[in-house]
Amino acid sequence: MQLTITRPDDWHLHLRDDLALKAVVADTARRFGRAIVMPNLKPPVTTVAAARAYRDRIQNAVQKGLAFEPLMTLYLTDRTPAAEIKEAAASGFVHAVKYYPAGSTTNSENGVTDLQKARVALAAMEQYDVPLLLHGEVTDSGIDVFDRERVFLDRHLGPLQRDFPGLRMVLEHITTQEAADYVRSAGPRVAATITAHHLLWNRNEIFRGGIRPHAYCLPVLKRERHRQALLAAATGDDPRFFLGTDSAPHARHTKEADCGCAGIYTSHAAIELYAEAFEHVDALAKLEAFASHRGPDFYRLPRNEARITLAREAWTVPNELPFGDRTLVPMRAGQSVAWRLVDPAR
Ligand code: NCD
Ligand code: ZN
Ligand code: ZN
Repeated sequence: MQLTITRPDDWHLHLRDDLALKAVVADTARRFGRAIVMPNLKPPVTTVAAARAYRDRIQNAVQKGLAFEPLMTLYLTDRTPAAEIKEAAASGFVHAVKYYPAGSTTNSENGVTDLQKARVALAAMEQYDVPLLLHGEVTDSGIDVFDRERVFLDRHLGPLQRDFPGLRMVLEHITTQEAADYVRSAGPRVAATITAHHLLWNRNEIFRGGIRPHAYCLPVLKRERHRQALLAAATGDDPRFFLGTDSAPHARHTKEADCGCAGIYTSHAAIELYAEAFEHVDALAKLEAFASHRGPDFYRLPRNEARITLAREAWTVPNELPFGDRTLVPMRAGQSVAWRLVDPAR
């Protein structure tokens, strides 16, 4: 059996930099036409000039013959000036601004400490119609790690929408029923991305037979009922749920450590893993809308014209992949994936 769809895009991706970038970018470029590239480098990409330089490094790292367009983002800080947002809107290659609550996730130390401090930038984003992408979790040590997304919706997303009603927002990597419900009720300016790992795994995976650092990401995996709610959102008809892998490569030794990093690498089999998740609920016919139509529609970009073909042929994921002078452990390492990419789009 084969499945041919419009070439998809990845609306949430970590490509890192230097040797790591060179090691991973082909996995995405073979499958996706474009990707929204996260700005959480060290130091973060806070200016249009830095985003331009990063875009050039990405393009240089992509193998000749693969047509791949990185869509750049800026990292919002307490001090992002309105002028930077204006320049981003005019640049033609910066497509969004990313909000990380300070201390919430990998390389978020320079993120926003208090949304009030980012008001000038948020008002400019509303004015110039630059979407805000959110890592939607509170960071208080008193809030349970499994509740951080839900509490963020209650405390911050409602007020943000009230204060900046014209601002378009994408709640990234949603993990809960509450987030899916929020997006459904929030109107046309609010959308959400969903990862393959949150569609395929519930939180038991972190503790399956022992502690599994390669299943640790943020927001952390949730209960089965949340996974079911995400599947319903991804395979349903609401156009505001679309594909964002949040593929987040980390060297093996930084995850297999006394304090292991958050992030799961899925780019090596991204669209194949989504196909599996959709097939499990008999919704393969909905994959193209989720993966290839709704993202560009929300971002007001043309849909891709090229197509890709997947075959229902199982293959085994390697135990590890090269990652610069290190290695990384991809999702499904040593296990099989049911779908295989046939036709790398060129
Ligand atoms: C991401 C990373 O490693 O950059 N990690 C993750 O667990 N998702 C950061 C992020 O998207 O929050
Ligand atoms: Zn995040
Ligand atoms: Zn991410």
